[in-house]
Amino acid sequence: MTFLENYCTFQPLSEELINNCNPFICDDTDLCEFFAKDFIKYNEDLFGKTYCFTLDNDPKKIVCAFTIANDSIKAQLMPKSDRNRITRKVSNNKRGLKSYPAVLIGRLGVNIEFEGKGIGRELMEFIKSWFIDSNNKTGCRFLVVDSYNKERPIRYYEKNGFKFIFEDQEEEKNYSGIITDEPLNTRLMSFDLIVISRN
Ligand SMILES: CC(C)(COP(=O)(O)OP(=O)(O)OC[C@H]1O[C@@H](n2cnc3c(N)ncnc32)[C@H](O)[C@@H]1OP(=O)(O)O)[C@@H](O)C(=O)NCCC(=O)NCCS
Repeated sequence: MTFLENYCTFQPLSEELINNCNPFICDDTDLCEFFAKDFIKYNEDLFGKTYCFTLDNDPKKIVCAFTIANDSIKAQLMPKSDRNRITRKVSNNKRGLKSYPAVLIGRLGVNIEFEGKGIGRELMEFIKSWFIDSNNKTGCRFLVVDSYNKERPIRYYEKNGFKFIFEDQEEEKNYSGIITDEPLNTRLMSFDLIVISRN
């Protein structure tokens, strides 16, 4: 991590901070709205905590933001082929667990001004390193995202080591209880933190 580490400050995103900052514009309208106000209620309801990096030489500028919440991968409810893929690096005696602890990256966005400069990659490295920290209060094996089912975000997550939890969209619909003949709006993807925690 370089830019975020050297030129930015990491902090929780609060109502006061967002009111003092320039509007946070990223490449998705829903996400802009979420980071403008909806995140406050999420925070109050303990559904998700939002954090951001602000620019040190212009503290009103939010460079990137993300929201996280506790989650789990319910392996027991998954088809065997997907379950085997997910648990490939899980030790044999823990393969049969009903679920695996995870953190959901519910929202993640990079200020449009900073896109395509590697900030998204740095941010993901930061989030990954956070959950393999020895001071963590809980165990977290996987990072999970429900990525927009669009080329750019899917490519972003794949480039950062995430894989589809379900190869097949119909299986994902069954698991998520979504009844539709349309393609999914979002796709569940995961990253196994053991890969970096053992390095
Ligand atoms: C998806 C998103 C987070 C990516 O953020 P980003 O900061 O642009 O990501 P990166 O810069 O790390 O990588 C994006 C591209 O820039 C390229 N890149 C990385 N470092 C670079 C650099 N120093 N100079 C030029 N390009 C670079 C990457 O190779 C990558 O190329 P690709 O488009 O061919 O995959 C951002 O576009 C975004 O906020 N989108 C809207 C919200 C969204 O879709 N969120 C995710 C789903 S919830």
